[in-house]
Amino acid sequence: MAAPQPRLRRPAVSRSTQTVEPAVKLVNFVRRFGDNTVIDGLDLSIAPGEFVALLGASGSGKTTLLRTLAGLDSAAGQDVKTPDTRAVVFQDARLLPWKKVWRNVALGLGGKDVRARAEAALKEVGLGHRLDAWPGTLSGGEAQRTALARALVREPGLLLLDEPFAALDALTRLKMHDLVLALWREHAPAVLLVTHDVDEAIALADRVLVLDKGRIAAEERIELERPRAPDARFQAIRRRLLGHLGVEAPAHSEGHLVAFPTGEVVL
Ligand SMILES: Nc1ncnc2c1ncn2[C@@H]1O[C@H](COP(=O)(O)OP(=O)(O)O)[C@@H](O)[C@H]1O
Ligand SMILES: [Mg+2]
Repeated sequence: MAAPQPRLRRPAVSRSTQTVEPAVKLVNFVRRFGDNTVIDGLDLSIAPGEFVALLGASGSGKTTLLRTLAGLDSAAGQDVKTPDTRAVVFQDARLLPWKKVWRNVALGLGGKDVRARAEAALKEVGLGHRLDAWPGTLSGGEAQRTALARALVREPGLLLLDEPFAALDALTRLKMHDLVLALWREHAPAVLLVTHDVDEAIALADRVLVLDKGRIAAEERIELERPRAPDARFQAIRRRLLGHLGVEAPAHSEGHLVAFPTGEVVL
């Protein structure tokens, strides 16, 4: 049975990376640290507005790839195409403790109405009431919301998320999933979400990639309608991805907190 097509609340993005000029394109990309070849001839395309999740074992090179796409790592002489405007959110919010929340969001912004733009971004992430707070007074979830506001205020063509929810408790993580989807629908950047959480990847992304031995070793296109329920199709994708990751899938997810962007929690 064919999966139902997702209803999009924003202009439809072509599902094929071939028909649209990609936002991100790497061809035969290689990154070595001394003798250690971390990325080894990797090809990757991400369409404008596409939400891609990247899974892979610890040390498989996910952060290295993300840093390359962010322009934080050397890609000299290599075939790497990205949008000009990129923004990154890391696992920790990396806020400057001596600057108020709104100034952290406005950091490096040029032009007029900087405070108003920071305020609008903070309102979007539900922090309109914390503009003048000090970062040290924020909860972990609020700090990550601030980091998201700081990323989005730049209107990036590519939003890079490196395990941004990994340090949050499960319920806060669920709320962040909803928020990220809402922001993605509103702003429509291409997204690369690095995560070690297979359920998070399936819940959020259009396409899930598995990085192994320096290349994209597997790919799953997720055509399930959002918000995504943990139904049989979801579980089948989950089993396949866990297989690609070399993890045997349990028969059922007993004792495991599974996060869905509906706010639904399955124990
Ligand atoms: N600046 C660096 N210098 C040397 N080795 C590095 C550097 N950055 C990453 N590595 C190595 O590259 C490999 C991949 O790291 P990383 O991209 O952080 O993996 P992941 O994010 O998938 O856990 C690891 O073996 C790591 O030790
Ligand atoms: Mg990493």
